[in-house]
Amino acid sequence: MRPRITLAITGASGAQYALRLLDSLVQAECEVHVMVSKAAHLVIATETDVALPPKPQAMQAFLSQYTGADEGQIRVFGLNDWMAPPASGSSHPAPMVVCPCSTGTLSAIATGACNNLIERAADVALKERRQLILVPRETPLSSIHLEHMLKLSNLGAVILPAAPGFYHQPQSVDDLVDFIVARILNQLGISQDLLPRWGEQNLGSHDD
Ligand SMILES: Cc1cc2nc3c(=O)[nH]c(=O)nc-3n(C[C@H](O)[C@H](O)[C@H](O)COP(=O)(O)O)c2cc1C
Repeated sequence: MRPRITLAITGASGAQYALRLLDSLVQAECEVHVMVSKAAHLVIATETDVALPPKPQAMQAFLSQYTGADEGQIRVFGLNDWMAPPASGSSHPAPMVVCPCSTGTLSAIATGACNNLIERAADVALKERRQLILVPRETPLSSIHLEHMLKLSNLGAVILPAAPGFYHQPQSVDDLVDFIVARILNQLGISQDLLPRWGEQNLGSHDD
């Protein structure tokens, strides 16, 4: 059985992170359960050339073709599909990543709103003590954002801001995207060759 990952894509800037992460998870032989917020559709259309169909079934076919996924490897669920596996703690346990994570969804998760399947799935991850990785992108951060991040971090979620480093000497936007995707894959324990792990490749150490 393939490892299952739940991936929620929300309406923060950084659609490239989500698409690259989805592709990497498929190449790593994961089964990926995908949910896309309405705002994420707008952001994806604004930031990329990807024309994501609005309906879950068409989106599933599109993303499967986009990533070269096998039949059934990607499943897309609508935001009101309360019968979908991520909606219940009795489903097969799966780590969840919200990438990118808008401050709106961050706030909804921090307050347990459960107004759509993304928020409910994150609520389930927290109550079941499952891995929950949130990739917020906003700047500057208000005290509201910071309080929500602290609250969620204290509840066990990993706050992994979409803030790429530069010590790997990126040559392109793709390198910056890969930096963040690699850090998410590391958190998930999925082997990746997008970014060397610290200390495993000479990144400019001059200590004799
Ligand atoms: C092009 C675009 C870029 C946006 N960038 C961000 C962002 O970086 N961070 C953020 O928190 N919200 C951003 N927003 C606003 C969110 O999309 C908006 O708050 C929305 O309600 C979030 O809904 P969701 O959490 O259901 O996806 C952006 C919106 C658009 C259209």
